[in-house]
Amino acid sequence: MRYNFKVNDSTFYFAQNDRKIELFEHLYPTPRGMAYNNYLIKDEKTVLFDTVDREFSERLFGQQLSALDGAPLDYLVVHHMEPDHSGSIHLLRTLFPNVQIVGNKKTLAMLKGYHNITEGVIEVDEKTGLNIGSRTLQFVFAPMLHWPEVMFTYDPLEKTLFSADAFGCFGTMDGGYFDDEQDMGWVLPEARRYYSNIVGKYGSFTLKGLEKASQLEIKTICPLHGPVWRTHIADIIGLYQKWGAYEPEEKGVVIIYGSMYGNTDEVADFLARSIAAHGMKNVRMHHMAHSTASEVISDVFKYSGVVLASPTYNNELWPPMRYVLDTLVSRGIPNRKCAIIGSGTWNPNTMKPLAEYVEKLKWEQIGEPLKILMSMDEVTSEAVWNLGKQIADAIK
Ligand code: FEO
Repeated sequence: MRYNFKVNDSTFYFAQNDRKIELFEHLYPTPRGMAYNNYLIKDEKTVLFDTVDREFSERLFGQQLSALDGAPLDYLVVHHMEPDHSGSIHLLRTLFPNVQIVGNKKTLAMLKGYHNITEGVIEVDEKTGLNIGSRTLQFVFAPMLHWPEVMFTYDPLEKTLFSADAFGCFGTMDGGYFDDEQDMGWVLPEARRYYSNIVGKYGSFTLKGLEKASQLEIKTICPLHGPVWRTHIADIIGLYQKWGAYEPEEKGVVIIYGSMYGNTDEVADFLARSIAAHGMKNVRMHHMAHSTASEVISDVFKYSGVVLASPTYNNELWPPMRYVLDTLVSRGIPNRKCAIIGSGTWNPNTMKPLAEYVEKLKWEQIGEPLKILMSMDEVTSEAVWNLGKQIADAIK
C-alpha cells in the first residue's frame, strides 16, 4: 500500500474510523462512530502529530510507515494526552526508538504517568519553536480545550493550525476528509454536540484559545476528530465564539421533561403547541426516558429558552430529570430563560427543586412555576396554554 493522502504539499492525513464505538468516553452516544485523526509533515525532519487509541495502533503505524517511505520518524508532537490520541505512544516508541517526543511541562508529566516515558523528550513552551528544515513550527497553549496540557501547533509555511480536539466533531469520515467533501448538515450539529458535551464547561478557556488563534493567518485547520477545515473555517470559528461565550445560536425552546404514565407528556405536548401557536418555530422536546443528556446539552447550547417539567417520584424529582439537570449544572450554561412545571398525584412538589436548579444555572425564570395535580383539567390546561404564550413572548 502506498499511502499518499495529503492536506497540503507536505502534510499527510490519516483518519482511523471507529465504527464499533457506541459511547465516546463511555458517556456520549456515537451513532455515526468516531474518527481519530493524525498528521505527518515530511520536511528535512519528519514530524507525527499525536498517535491514536491503542485499538488502531497497527493501522496507523502501517499507514505512517508507508507515508514515511523509508525515512526515519524524528519527532512526535503531543497536542493532547487523552488516551484516544495518546494511547499508542509507548508502541510508537518501540517501533521508532529514536523518536523525540515533544510536549509542554504538563504533557511530559502525563507522559510519565501514562507511559513511564521520561527519556528522549523535548519540553517546549510558546516561545520555543521547532525547526524542521524549511519552517519552524510554533506552539500555542490552549489549556482546557480539553485538558490542561492541550496545545496547538502552527505551521507558518502551509499556514496550518493543528488544533487538537478544538473544531472536532463526532462521526466517521467515510472518505470525505475535507469540510467541503462533507455535508455540513450533519457535521455542524455533531461539532456542536462534541463541543458542548466534551469542552462545554470551559467557555472562558475556549475564548482565550480563539483569541490566540486569531493572531495567526490560517488556511487550514487540522483537528484530531472530524474533517479538515479549509472552506468553512469562518463558520466553525464563528460557532466556537458563540459557544465559548454561551451565546444561543437561535431563539427557541428546549422542553426537558419526564413522564411515567403519559400525563406530564400530554402537558408537555400541549405546552409545545401553545409555544408554537404563539409564534415560536424552534421547539425541541426531550422526554428523558428516551433522549440522552448528550442531546439535551447540545440543544441547550443552541437555543435560548428551556422548560423543565418533572413528575414527583418518592417525594423528589423523577430520577432521570435529576441526572440531566446535574449534567447541565456541570456545564454551567448561563444566559437562558426557563419555565417550570411540577406534577404528581397526591403531593406534586417538584417545583421547588426545579427552581433550585434554575437558580444554580443562573437562568431567568419565566412566570410562576405551574403545578399539575394528576392530569390536566380545564383549569390547568388553560394555565398551560397561557404559560406557552408567556414563554413565546419572553423568548421572542
Ligand atoms: Fe479527543 Fe479530549 O480527546
